[in-house]
Amino acid sequence: MSRVTLTQFLIEQQRNQKMIPADLRLLIEVVARAVKTISVHVGKGAVAGLLGNAGTDNVQGEAQKKLDVVANEVLLHANEWGGHLAAMASEELDDPSYIPKTYPKGEYLLVFDPLDGSSNIDVNISVGTIFSVLRCPANMEPTEEAFLQTGRRQVAAGYAVYGPSTMLVLTVGTGTHGFTLDREFGSWVLTHGDIRIPEDTKEFAINASRSRFWEPPVQRYIAELQQGADGPRGQDFNMRWVASMVADVHRILARGGIFLYPLDEKNRPRGGHLRLLYEANPMAMVVEQAGGAASTGREPVLDLVPQGLHQRVPVILGSRHEVERVVAYHAE
Ligand code: F6P
Ligand code: MN
Repeated sequence: MSRVTLTQFLIEQQRNQKMIPADLRLLIEVVARAVKTISVHVGKGAVAGLLGNAGTDNVQGEAQKKLDVVANEVLLHANEWGGHLAAMASEELDDPSYIPKTYPKGEYLLVFDPLDGSSNIDVNISVGTIFSVLRCPANMEPTEEAFLQTGRRQVAAGYAVYGPSTMLVLTVGTGTHGFTLDREFGSWVLTHGDIRIPEDTKEFAINASRSRFWEPPVQRYIAELQQGADGPRGQDFNMRWVASMVADVHRILARGGIFLYPLDEKNRPRGGHLRLLYEANPMAMVVEQAGGAASTGREPVLDLVPQGLHQRVPVILGSRHEVERVVAYHAE
């Protein structure tokens, strides 16, 4: 059986599609290698004594898990010496991480959520890593300001999901493609080429415990779904909520669905729940490249001009027709 590996896929993208220069290919390979390491740590779980809290808080004021810290360090150390990066930004760090002076500097900025959904670690439910790649603007130092580019400027984005199998889902702007980790060979095999999200769906994902805080358009939309065949939609809808964004988005890529973490009365002071740079933008690019849509309810996620590294935003993404309906309800 001939198998296309991530390396072959990237070289073909570089050679035929002229989509990725050599140093971006190196960057993606390095991220993919780091993700393999994280997958090993996540997979050992309690055996390695890696469950539970690290005893520290991150910049978001959230308790860091031991595996949050490990995953963050794996990504930082894997990416600092290759010469492909100008700087990195991580959900777990207050400020950008600069490349040590002993190493050459490159033109790219790497942004990541090292371990998304980490509240699920201790209960052995899927977690993941999300990443986004930007170009450092010419003649600009890679300070926080350099990272504040719209999601449209991402040159690559993706995530790894550490589930029953480990998968890497990637876009460099030519569709969204999924690779499965062959654990025996240690290689990423292209198993899900050119993923397309069905435009219609009967499945939604939202943390319904927050329903009393939702805005009227979201109240209306979810109420209509819950009325099912007896309501205006005339069909039943099913609900799923993993509470790991990677796992929920991955399911939507696989079989359609809509995911909402909307603005509500409780998260309004922070602007929303999910992080624009580490979560919303990369997932929005992955979803748009798969034919889906991603909005805040009021505008496409990818058009937002970031105001800060750790900015939070509302996120509504997935099957195109459902996202468009929610956006229309917001406009009314
Ligand atoms: O990283 C934030 C996150 O953990 C996402 O992975 C997930 O979708 C969401 O928050 C879960 O939120 P809640 O705790 O409200 O269910
Ligand atoms: Mn996260």
